Amino acid sequence: MKAEECVMESSMLKIIDLSFSYDGKREVLSGINLDIKAGECIGLIGANGVGKSTLLKLIVGLEFAKKGKIIVNNMEVNSKNLREVRKNIGYVFQDSDAQLFMPTVHEDVKFALLNYGYGKDEADQIAYETLKKIGIENLKDQSIYHLSGGQKKLVSIATVLVLNPDMIIFDEPTVCLDPKNRRKFMEVLRSLGGTKIVASHDLDLIYDTCDRSVLIADQRIVKEGITQKILTDRELLENNGLELPLSMISRNKMSVIM
Ligand SMILES: Nc1ncnc2c1ncn2[C@@H]1O[C@H](COP(=O)(O)OP(=O)(O)OP(=O)(O)O)[C@@H](O)[C@H]1O
Ligand SMILES: [Mg+2]
Repeated sequence: MKAEECVMESSMLKIIDLSFSYDGKREVLSGINLDIKAGECIGLIGANGVGKSTLLKLIVGLEFAKKGKIIVNNMEVNSKNLREVRKNIGYVFQDSDAQLFMPTVHEDVKFALLNYGYGKDEADQIAYETLKKIGIENLKDQSIYHLSGGQKKLVSIATVLVLNPDMIIFDEPTVCLDPKNRRKFMEVLRSLGGTKIVASHDLDLIYDTCDRSVLIADQRIVKEGITQKILTDRELLENNGLELPLSMISRNKMSVIM
């Protein structure tokens, strides 16, 4: 790659000196700087309550910081251009109940398509294909209110994939998923071409799918780098309230037994 091509490498998300507090007193995030290139898959990790979901909400403009800037696809996230910014971003909420609001699965999945001007037949078809991709087309006519936790998570993921956004942010996407659906989700995640940010305590998921990871603790990014390096650094993880991925712990145990 030529030098000028390196400089031109497109930034999908840029966070510049961002600090945020919900109540104006206690800072949840402080001095956050991050640059994510188009096409990267980034793992966002950290103990409970360090601010992962808060950071994601700031990126999609569900909260606004008084200090710092967030730029998505060359557009600053602010209250004036939210609709434009959100055209580029899909966001799977940590809490699926906060995401789903239509009476049936099919209506919820096609809602965004209709909202963005797709015709009814085309929206029906894309919605059905998306449900099929995730393996939940059998839930099509079910009432949202009667779904299990894992089914709600899968439908939430479908409501976001349906628009094929440039960047998708997943907040705890594998919570409640059984092993087969978790594996299926990982396949879907790998098959997505755009930029992805995955906040999760499922460190095996991060290890297997994310090129780069960002570790948050004490309001700050304490480490950012290649996932395989961060997730095998027991001392770093333990010093910041985490543990090695489960697969690595069991691998270590097996070698002790044998
Ligand atoms: N709406 C809110 N109002 C006030 N404080 C909040 C609000 N949402 C979150 N917080 C606080 O902000 C901090 C960060 O919360 P956040 O949900 O971002 O953490 P997290 O890293 O996503 O945690 P988890 O791993 O449990 O999902 C916590 O101390 C939490 O209590
Ligand atoms: Mg969270």
